[in-house]
This record gives sequence, C-alpha cells and structure tokens, in this order.
Amino acid sequence: MNSKIVQHAATTEAQQRANPLDGKTCVVTGSSRGIGREIALELGRHGASVAVNYLSSADAAHEVVDRIDAGAGEAVVAQADVTDRSDVDDLAARVRESFGSVDVLVNNAGITADRRFDEMSREEWDRVVDTNLGGAFNATKAFYDDIREADHGRLVNVASVVGFTGNYGQSNYAAAKSGLVGFTRALAHELAPHGATANAVAPGYTRTDMVDDVREDIQERIRERIPLRRFADAEEIAPVVRFLASDAADYLTGEVVNVNGGMYA
Ligand SMILES: NC(=O)c1ccc[n+]([C@@H]2O[C@H](COP(=O)([O-])OP(=O)(O)OC[C@H]3O[C@@H](n4cnc5c(N)ncnc54)[C@H](OP(=O)(O)O)[C@@H]3O)[C@@H](O)[C@H]2O)c1
Repeated sequence: MNSKIVQHAATTEAQQRANPLDGKTCVVTGSSRGIGREIALELGRHGASVAVNYLSSADAAHEVVDRIDAGAGEAVVAQADVTDRSDVDDLAARVRESFGSVDVLVNNAGITADRRFDEMSREEWDRVVDTNLGGAFNATKAFYDDIREADHGRLVNVASVVGFTGNYGQSNYAAAKSGLVGFTRALAHELAPHGATANAVAPGYTRTDMVDDVREDIQERIRERIPLRRFADAEEIAPVVRFLASDAADYLTGEVVNVNGGMYA
C-alpha cells in the first residue's frame, strides 16, 4: 500500500484513539451545572459536538460551550424546558441545523422537591416526575429516530441510587428514577434490532447544587452510609457516561451502571 495512505490511516487511528467521539453529535439535557456540565465537558474533551441544554442558567451554559470550543470538541447552547414537548422539539430542530443528526442523547436534567409523603402535594409529585421522567420522554421522542438510525446510536439516562434504595422524603424522586430504569430497559429491547443501545448511569450522592441544598447534619448521616465515606465529584460520573456513549460499549445495553461509592458493597 502507498506509504502516504498507510501514514494517513495511522494518523486517523491515532486521532480516533485520542478523540474517540470525533464526529459524534451529543445532546446533554441539563448541562449548565452539576453532573450534566461535567458530562458535556467530558464528551467535548473527547471530540464530540455537544448541545448544552439548560433551563435558565444561560451564563453557565455559555461558559460550558466556550470551554468545549476551546478544546477538541465544538458546542452550542440549547435552551429548552425538558417538561415542554414543543420546546424540546424546537431544540431538536436547532441542534440538527448546527450539527446534523444526533448520535447520543444523555437524559440528565433533573430536580428534587423533597417532602415526607403524607405532606407531599400533587404539584410536588408532578413537578419531579414531569422533569426527571417526562423530560426523558420528551427528549427521547425528539431524538429517537436519529439514535435508531445512527451507526452506534446511544441513549444514556441518568438515574440515581435513590431509584433502588428509596430515601426518606423522596418518594416522588425515587419513583421517577426507578421509572427511568424501566424506561431504559424497555428501550434497550426496541433499539437493539437497530444496533443502538440504551443504558443508565445511577450516581450515588454527588457534590452538586442538588446535594448542597441538603442540611449539613443529614449530609453527614448520608456519608456514614457510603463505604467510601465521601460524596462523588461530578467528574467521577462523567467518564462512565463517555464510555457508554462510545463505540467501545457496543455490546452493553439495558444496563444500569452504579457509581455510588460502594453503597451495595
Ligand atoms: N447530585 C446527586 O447527588 C445526584 C445523585 C444521583 C443522580 N443525580 C441526577 O443527576 C442529574 C443531574 O443532577 P445534578 O446534581 O447535577 O443537579 P443540578 O446541579 O441541580 O443541575 C440540574 C441541571 O438540570 C437542569 N434542569 C433542571 N430542570 C430543567 C428543565 N425543566 N429543563 C431543562 N433543564 C433543566 C438545570 O438547568 P439550569 O441550570 O438552567 O437550572 C441544571 O443544568 C439529575 O438527573 C439528578 O437526579 C444527582
């Protein structure tokens, strides 16, 4: 073979190893802050084109985009309320205009509204379920055809350890996160014939605004239940999502990867 062609193939292979997400378009819901932010940065760092979705933190989302643009990837901001189906459909149209068809959707946007069940209002239930589970429905609907038709289409849902263990004051959140696991497993069946995968990551307690809002004495009690005796950093969740998004995870589907400091140990 011509030595130039061999050299070119070797360079492409080396680039692929350095930037395994080169040429992939990824959407990360709720990536202005916390875990989603680190996922977007991680995907961008590995060469992806990333749509950085947010609800109201415009400055934070722009900062994420600037950081990705300064590295191996490229990014656009993509404001949309994931609870609003038409808003998410508009977002999908804008993302396709910027980057073409989408390969990877990460359903990460989430909220809590904690209250003991006997005092929980229907509004608090709906708000949490609509965002964590309904938001995943809306975004998955908007990008489903893209993922199904992509070469290595990927759906990655961000669940939670609480979806498995339950938690005092979080019946709404636990229900939504368990629901997300069932949703993931069902779509794994439906996507499999197309060579696309659906998986979930279930983080344990992770240091973000969501956990900072919990009272310090309760945080301490939670830490005591974690074998590694500390909360995760969002940077420790993101590489797992990057792996699931990559071609290296082709044979992994319908799975939930727990990243929780050994809470089942
Ligand atoms: N932190 C933990 O301990 C933990 C543990 C397990 C699982 N998780 C899950 O991980 C995910 C991220 O949590 P986090 O701790 O990183 O939360 P966070 O720091 O509070 O960030 C939440 C993100 O979601 C976005 N968001 C909220 N509602 C939205 C909506 N309706 N439409 C679009 N975006 C919306 C926010 O956008 P704005 O900035 O614009 O508000 C923000 O980017 C959630 O699904 C959460 O349930 C977290």
